[in-house]
Amino acid sequence: MSVLTSLPQWQKLSELAESVKSAHMRDWFEADPQRAEKMQLEACGIFLDYAKNRVNDDALSALFDLARACNVETLRDAMFSGEQINSTEGRAVLHTALRNFSDRPVMVDGQNVMPEVHDTLAKIEAFTASIHNGSHKGYTGKPIKHIVAIGIGGSFLGPKIMTEALKPHTVDAVKVHFVANVDGCHIHDVLSSVDFEETLVVMSSKSFSTQETLQNTLTAKDWFIKSGGTQEDIAKHFVAVSSNVKAATDFGISADNIFPMWDWVGGRYSLWSAIGLPISLALGFENFKGLLEGAFEMDTHFATAPLEQNMPVLLALLGVWYRNFFDAQSHVLLPYCHYLRGLPAYVQQLDMESNGKEVTQEGDSVDYPTGPIIWGSEGTNGQHSFHQLIHQGSGVIPADFMLPLNVPNQDDTHHAMLASNCFGQTQALMQGKTFEACYADLDGKGLDDAERKRLAAHKTMPGNKPSNTFLFESLTPNILGALVAMYEHKVFVQGVIWNLNSFDQWGVELGKVLGNQVLAGIQGEADKDNFDASTQQLIAKFRAANAPK
Ligand code: F6P
Repeated sequence: MSVLTSLPQWQKLSELAESVKSAHMRDWFEADPQRAEKMQLEACGIFLDYAKNRVNDDALSALFDLARACNVETLRDAMFSGEQINSTEGRAVLHTALRNFSDRPVMVDGQNVMPEVHDTLAKIEAFTASIHNGSHKGYTGKPIKHIVAIGIGGSFLGPKIMTEALKPHTVDAVKVHFVANVDGCHIHDVLSSVDFEETLVVMSSKSFSTQETLQNTLTAKDWFIKSGGTQEDIAKHFVAVSSNVKAATDFGISADNIFPMWDWVGGRYSLWSAIGLPISLALGFENFKGLLEGAFEMDTHFATAPLEQNMPVLLALLGVWYRNFFDAQSHVLLPYCHYLRGLPAYVQQLDMESNGKEVTQEGDSVDYPTGPIIWGSEGTNGQHSFHQLIHQGSGVIPADFMLPLNVPNQDDTHHAMLASNCFGQTQALMQGKTFEACYADLDGKGLDDAERKRLAAHKTMPGNKPSNTFLFESLTPNILGALVAMYEHKVFVQGVIWNLNSFDQWGVELGKVLGNQVLAGIQGEADKDNFDASTQQLIAKFRAANAPK
């Protein structure tokens, strides 16, 4: 039995869960008209209504007791202070330093890192200005009008999704295109849509060893040369963001064009670093800075608010409640906001690459579920796709709904419809529709009683499906920064409770190694006996289909 599951606080939660499971939220709302009033929280411009959760006062209290028993506050402070909490890579975890607008120093190996953080921000600001004001010119003297941002995972999702989310703030000076996949169609489509004389490539790779990013950048370099550029002109059209400066210069990126990042920033936590350069280029530096400022506000909230008033902590505990005591396999994000349509994909990497693990800090196998599957899409689209399962499927899928109260190009009818769908879905999930009500609806339909009961069973909506609803005035850089930081800290707290190292990603390494071996097999440079019969068969089919004609 693990330390976690043997805690008295854990045992208490197990007991409470059994009693809560027999209750219906409908009855709780009926019994306590103040429930909604009591179960709301505001932080950093974000309003959270968590009343539609399957928790009562006893369960919430026991959850906060669990957080204390797991030393959440101590480990939170250890993270902010630069302790090497990434226990398998011996690194600090300091994405919070990237947006530290206090005058507090942040020490790594005895050095205050804030001066280099500020220097890099200044480099981003100056470079952004040089592109936007046309002073940085291409090799034929033309200003830059297109940015091709190449990266994958945390070197792609943050820049792309933040830029998409803040589309109303994009500048006219440049158009930013994102390329991630090694599928050549993507880089081909992007490069054929731009004039290289007016194009800057931003290659982002913390390790500078990611196959997809290296290959896409090589293709871009080949394209540039074939378009008339020379090696000497590369410096005008290629910059890199990496912690591996040597590999970047060896690749041909000039040292002046390398924006540094540090090993104490994880890839999925790196949009606040120079990985965010495409965001600054797309939106202007001030809007990029607004993201950072919003995240800083959430950091301050997370670092100082009492646990019971602490939004990331509350969200983390509700997630643990469903994951570990209601067997919830996943958690769905439903932004009722077209511009936030990418947020589920962003949180997917953040959460699943952090807590998709089954070994504790001590190296023992867990005896409890850990990170859930994160998925979702924009509302109202999901209602016409997967909401059927959320409403009537087996099991519990906790949902995060989110809605800006005001939107650009405000069209009152559209926005009222969007909001009413958002709120209506949370109400339907909570209250459902009883068999009796469905049976009554079928009166006078000419059905015999057996058929009436059968159809009523199909139409019954169990309800009691939990959801959080986030509201905010409008989707500003500040709010978006706070929202993302809120999820970062939720993931952190869950990792602490599950006793995981949330900051490495060893699980992705084997696939990369084997992928390179298969590549050699496909290119005819590897002994087919290296591969299992199925993989051999797949390689053979691919080679046959692509054999020179
Ligand atoms: O393979 C997983 C991963 O390392 C992610 O953690 C990371 O965000 C992505 O690949 C890209 O890594 P890099 O920025 O080093 O190219």
